[in-house]
Amino acid sequence: MTDPPFDAFRYAHAHRTEIVWMSQNTNHLVPPEVVQEPLFAAIRERRYEGYPFGSGDPELRDLVLADLGFERDAGILIAAGGTEALYMLTRALLAPGDEVIASDPSYLIIHKFIELSGARTRNLEIYQEPYRLTPDRVQAAITDKTRMILLIDPLNPLGSGYPAEDVRAIAELAHDHHLILLNDVTYRDFAPAPTLAAKFAPEETLTVWSVSKNCGLAGLRLGGLAGRPELVKKVAKFNTNDLGVNILAQVAAMAALRTKSRWIDSVRTTTRANQARIREAVADVPGTFLPVYPSHASMFVIDVTGAKIAPEALQQELLLRHGVFIRAGNYLSPQFGQRFVRVSFSNSPEDIDCFVGAFAPAVAALTAGATPIAAPAAHP
Ligand SMILES: Cc1ncc(COP(=O)(O)O)c(C=O)c1O
Repeated sequence: MTDPPFDAFRYAHAHRTEIVWMSQNTNHLVPPEVVQEPLFAAIRERRYEGYPFGSGDPELRDLVLADLGFERDAGILIAAGGTEALYMLTRALLAPGDEVIASDPSYLIIHKFIELSGARTRNLEIYQEPYRLTPDRVQAAITDKTRMILLIDPLNPLGSGYPAEDVRAIAELAHDHHLILLNDVTYRDFAPAPTLAAKFAPEETLTVWSVSKNCGLAGLRLGGLAGRPELVKKVAKFNTNDLGVNILAQVAAMAALRTKSRWIDSVRTTTRANQARIREAVADVPGTFLPVYPSHASMFVIDVTGAKIAPEALQQELLLRHGVFIRAGNYLSPQFGQRFVRVSFSNSPEDIDCFVGAFAPAVAALTAGATPIAAPAAHP
């Protein structure tokens, strides 16, 4: 019997206590007591024995809408993560033959959902200045088949953020052409001055939100969408959570959102300091550079084309030899995935020490022509 191919995630999960996790833009900087006490209390109360209120705890709905700066009577859908909301909305609003204007690189899971609905993405290549969509290019890509624009702001994986005037111009295009504007704002809280598209095109915009990254709750799986009530209702027809989403996730999300104003600045300060330290480390390694700096999100990419190394080899070298888990670019870009790795930095400064200490030796080992460290024969 042959061994299964090496699976970096399986390995990293099995070794999670020894691994520096910089591969999924997760946030490890929210003070743990913020959610732990309310979670312990909910467990003691055995709230997990009953179903939650079907459409989501009313306080959670209010907290999310207030956090987005939306009116209390806006439509909101609570789902098991932004991912599920994205799936529902593509199912509900797209049909075979429709086109969605999107980018490459991008968060490709959304593209997969778009394609599952029978629609196709029109990927504008943005791996060049300014490393994001521009209103002119979006306008030029609109055809009579276009049904939606995908605006991920800040953008995973590059970390680019959209200036307010571009958000406005893209929102106006959506309005003028009667297109749905899918504004994914998962990383909004890491940006210095984020702008919501709903401000400029409230009728057309669906805002997809998540507490995975800003509140450090990725493992609990909670997110959703918000927008004009009639549009949200259309999406909600495809909601599989008739019995509500995980009650403990809702408890944790409410605790985090209630207190967010007290700790989010410190998360931002640390992520900024972390990315500056990574920049210094990258500057010392020939053949590598940061296309986008500073990042408006909790991640950016490091271009390694000049070092002539494969991103997958660097991922494996860093994981197996140095215990640092980052992500190769092929998961995020059909055209440019061979040029970069993605690194997230919403981690402790000690985690960043590990990355900074490992990056140069890992690149040097591969540039010298060494074969990447072999995957363990049987793993985990
Ligand atoms: C742009 C973007 N949208 C949505 C998600 C999914 O978030 P959630 O954990 O809420 O499903 C991610 C996760 O990485 C993301 O990068």
